[in-house]
Amino acid sequence: MMPVPMVGRGDALEELRNAWEQAQLLGRCVPAVITGLPGTGKSRLTAAAVQAMTPEVVLSGSARLHSPAPYDWLAAVLAGRGPRPELPVPPQALAWLAQDPDVPRERYTPDALLRLAVTTVRALAGGRPSVLMVEDLHALDPASLSLIAELAGAPLPAVLLVTSRPPDEAVNPRLTVRTLERLAGVPGAVRRHLAALSAGEVGQIMQHLYGSSTLAAAAWQHTGGNPYRLTELLAMAGTEQALAQLVHPPAGPAVPVPVPAARRPAALTAPEQAALTAREREVLGCLAEGMSNKHIATALGISVRTVTVHVSNLLRKTGASSRTEAALWAVQRPAG
Ligand SMILES: Nc1ncnc2c1ncn2[C@@H]1O[C@H](COP(=O)(O)OP(=O)(O)O)[C@@H](O)[C@H]1O
Ligand SMILES: [Mg+2]
Repeated sequence: MMPVPMVGRGDALEELRNAWEQAQLLGRCVPAVITGLPGTGKSRLTAAAVQAMTPEVVLSGSARLHSPAPYDWLAAVLAGRGPRPELPVPPQALAWLAQDPDVPRERYTPDALLRLAVTTVRALAGGRPSVLMVEDLHALDPASLSLIAELAGAPLPAVLLVTSRPPDEAVNPRLTVRTLERLAGVPGAVRRHLAALSAGEVGQIMQHLYGSSTLAAAAWQHTGGNPYRLTELLAMAGTEQALAQLVHPPAGPAVPVPVPAARRPAALTAPEQAALTAREREVLGCLAEGMSNKHIATALGISVRTVTVHVSNLLRKTGASSRTEAALWAVQRPAG
């Protein structure tokens, strides 16, 4: 199937482009925060925005899904850059910020570490036009949040591009609210919330893929306008005929289709009874983020084959008939 085109985010892209121009003009780090529920297209939008910005440097990091530790964002940035460059930071401190194993931290106060973390990021950017990419701020540790708040407005020609779920879904809601407020308070800051796609926008996608939008309303209803659920539905369908079968199933044995959370079939196992392993829960969290198997494998440091096995065990244990349904199940499962 053709890739699903991105629709409906033109305004947000334009705003992000402006933020980039402002940052280059003023030589200051301009925050741009994109919030939205899982699957609303935060990652896709920011990826498109970074492409349009053509930065010289991209420093990108995200939370670790398993056992968060201080400065996870910076550790991910450093890990993503191969051999560590010469930086104006004591090697011991840098090793600690990079989360090298067995490095004592006693010699540095939290304040000193924060200053060194800021110095590290500024040295990596080196005064060049940069994007500092923070994926899924809602899942980050407090030290990373402090660092990100410090970077906003700092004298470097950069956009601090942040995606986050709404704070009430955050690991640390109050700290997340405070950090987002601090970012929004920087002059020129961009703040965008991505809502579900409208039926008209779903229609545009149908038109592009099938040359017809007759099934748009039904597809929109089936997916609640969530781009991730829509993408999954379309991937399952392949052709307009197959989509018609999915959204208007003929009478008789039910065809499994991803259904919105509010209409979850009773056949799914109650969350407390599914008895998932720790790893399966991690994989489920990734599915709920809309990640592909390849992406999950990279994030968790396991092979794609192993991910496939975890996913099929998850579907069996939860009684879900698709990745989307398992993701919905994850969203509904009580915390803990
Ligand atoms: N505006 C859009 N138009 C079409 N497809 C989209 C749009 N936004 C997101 N998608 C698709 O939906 C899926 C989820 O998007 P993603 O960016 O991973 O969501 P998030 O980061 O908010 O969880 C991806 O397959 C993506 O390509
Ligand atoms: Mg994402």
